[in-house]
Amino acid sequence: MQIVQDIATLRDIIGEVKKKGLSIGLVPTMGFLHEGHLSLMRAAKAENDFLVVSIFVNPLQFGQGEDYEEYPRDLARDQELAAAVGCDLIFAPPVKEMYPRGYATFVEVERLTTVLCGSSRPGHFRGVTTVVAKLFNLVSPTHAYFGQKDAQQAFVLQKMVEDLNMNLELVIRPTVREADGLAMSSRNKYLTSAQRKEATVLFKSLNKAAGEIEKGERDPEKLKEKIAQEISAARGARLEYIEIVDTSELRPVSTVAGSCLIAIAVKFDQTRLIDNIVVGV
Ligand code: PAJ
Repeated sequence: MQIVQDIATLRDIIGEVKKKGLSIGLVPTMGFLHEGHLSLMRAAKAENDFLVVSIFVNPLQFGQGEDYEEYPRDLARDQELAAAVGCDLIFAPPVKEMYPRGYATFVEVERLTTVLCGSSRPGHFRGVTTVVAKLFNLVSPTHAYFGQKDAQQAFVLQKMVEDLNMNLELVIRPTVREADGLAMSSRNKYLTSAQRKEATVLFKSLNKAAGEIEKGERDPEKLKEKIAQEISAARGARLEYIEIVDTSELRPVSTVAGSCLIAIAVKFDQTRLIDNIVVGV
């Protein structure tokens, strides 16, 4: 496995891989790898000849007062984990390699980015689409892998790929969870042990809503109310949003019909957790 920090070397290696006609799978990450990331890497390795993992805590997608500085980093451990799943190349550039002085170009997807996480994190998705577009240009993957855990991110990136005619396929893989249902996340590390116990409320409340839908409930307001009650019963949990939206434009639905995304964001002190499920009726 090669570890590359500069763009010139990355381009040389990718050039050689392309010359051989090999397919390239890319898994973009911000590191501090966990089983969610590793599941994407295993799929990418199985479906492509050459696996590239990027590790870059992207300052552009963090808002003021967010956790850019504190975001957990452990490149040595990440290298071991990536090597163990057959990663061929880690691209881990310093910030100045991606955004040199005078950097001025940004990619922005409209509409889909103003709802859900976009309304509480203005500029966040602009940072995500910009860095991912740059990674796509640098690595020219045949397939790029993303997690359903960040459902809105996957939607927004799919839109970017379609709208800008990017020549690759996005693969969205299921959310990997801890044994008690909590979605794996690098940010779970911030939780105290008491908060960690309460954090199971995200997935539990989503599942309760899915159960109500199965029983015939179709009113999104009633379902949202149920979820909100569940969340407020968990000690230290503050609901940031709960939305039930369609899976094409992420617009709030007036009745649950077809395929819907139920998405929530919950804060425990400064730690912000998200989760979602897709329900189909
Ligand atoms: P990061 O949070 O490190 O996540 C990298 C990828 O792993 C994303 O596609 C995310 O959806 C996926 N992932 C995270 N937790 C997961 C879980 N529990 N199950 C399945 N997949 C999971 O998302 C980002 O980084 C950044 O925004 C990035 C796309 C790298 C751009 O900077």
